[in-house]
Amino acid sequence: MTVLRTQVGIVGGGAAGLMLGHLLGRAGVDSIIVENRTREHVIDRVRAGVLEQGTVDMLQESGMAGRLSREGMRHEGIYIAFGGSRHRIDMAGLTNGRAITIYGQNELVKDLIAARLATARPLFFEAAGVSVHDLECEQPAIRFTHDGGPHEIRCDIIAGCDGFHGVCRPSIPDGALKTFDRSYPFAWLGILADAAPSSHELVYSLHERGFALFSMRSPAVTRLYLQCAADEVAARWADDRIWAELRARLTMADGWAPREGPITQKGVTGMRSFVVDPMHYGRLCLAGDAAHIVPPTGAKGLNLAMADVWRLAPILEQVCRNGDTRVLAEYSARGVRRTWHAQRFSWWMTTMLHRDEQDTAFDERRRIADLEYLVSSSAAMTSLAENYVGLPLD
Ligand code: FAD
Ligand code: DHB
Repeated sequence: MTVLRTQVGIVGGGAAGLMLGHLLGRAGVDSIIVENRTREHVIDRVRAGVLEQGTVDMLQESGMAGRLSREGMRHEGIYIAFGGSRHRIDMAGLTNGRAITIYGQNELVKDLIAARLATARPLFFEAAGVSVHDLECEQPAIRFTHDGGPHEIRCDIIAGCDGFHGVCRPSIPDGALKTFDRSYPFAWLGILADAAPSSHELVYSLHERGFALFSMRSPAVTRLYLQCAADEVAARWADDRIWAELRARLTMADGWAPREGPITQKGVTGMRSFVVDPMHYGRLCLAGDAAHIVPPTGAKGLNLAMADVWRLAPILEQVCRNGDTRVLAEYSARGVRRTWHAQRFSWWMTTMLHRDEQDTAFDERRRIADLEYLVSSSAAMTSLAENYVGLPLD
């Protein structure tokens, strides 16, 4: 057995785990990151694309925004479309110049991995059978197998950044955390296409056939999503069928439609709201999707994960310095409050923009009234804008 020792043991080398390792390193705190997938898989996984203003600011402040500043696409508005028309929401104008930046999560993860490897601090990929132990003790442990040999990391504290399906949250005894869960009766089919975006800004569209979203990754790549059945299988959607459905849902009365091109990636994303409270147990704290999931309509998941680790890094620094874990309650209380605000916003965007087969005629008319009010009231547009660009990091 190889026994290693560090201050913070991080389970999960996704956006949250890598950014936490980066922030701790800048504060002089040692960490070891343990990831169960291959480096290529972690980098190639297509996920989020929208960074809030606060996420961009923290990446800049922590020296991680070199490529983001050159290649990220700053967007000062978004469109909300229904009844065949697009309505622009001037986010920057309504929020004193705050905006979002389009930068693929996988690009961010690539940058964070490169920064980590440059520090020579340990990052294990392809760790098998990862488990966490002794959470109530002063030196909790992470165990796994790597290169065929058993490993154990002893540390002051463990950060569970291993996503919704990870091992950390299920290792907490039943009853120690409260959980809140809601699933939605639909999902998103997402594609990447080699086609130059036909709009500078995102278009969120409600159509009789369901929701559709126009987004992008670069000046040459369009990202599109379609509302589909909750149990949909991406392989059942031939490319022609996808384009026909996107055309039906996104062509506007003025003739605007997404530009088409070869589809290079397809996948289905489920829709769920999930919260744990508190976000810690003993010497294990949870961050990112390990602690909360939001439906993707508000583009909040990655941003919540980044806000968690921004708050967590200085708190872990304190724990490592003086051994007092009581400060974890503060990490959790602030995080749970932010999570509920993001849940409320994501739930509202989701229910306003999706059709549900159980809907009555009343629900459909109320939804249109919600949209008409949104695009005609500067108070309603400001509310959307300040949530979409991101509430201030506390
Ligand atoms: P993850 O990125 O899931 O990272 C967890 C890591 O832990 C992974 O690398 C995983 O391999 C690893 N792991 C899992 N189990 C173990 C184990 N047992 N041992 C070791 N490692 C383990 N959010 C937004 O903010 N904006 C968006 O525009 C947006 N769009 C999205 C679009 C799609 C299609 C999807 C799927 C998600 C989207 N999200 C969006 C959500 C966002 O991608 C997630 O919230 C984000 O990935 C959370 O980061 P994380 O690091 O907490 O989790
Ligand atoms: C993207 C994803 C989202 O969930 C969203 O609300 C907007 C854009 C994207 O992948 O580009």
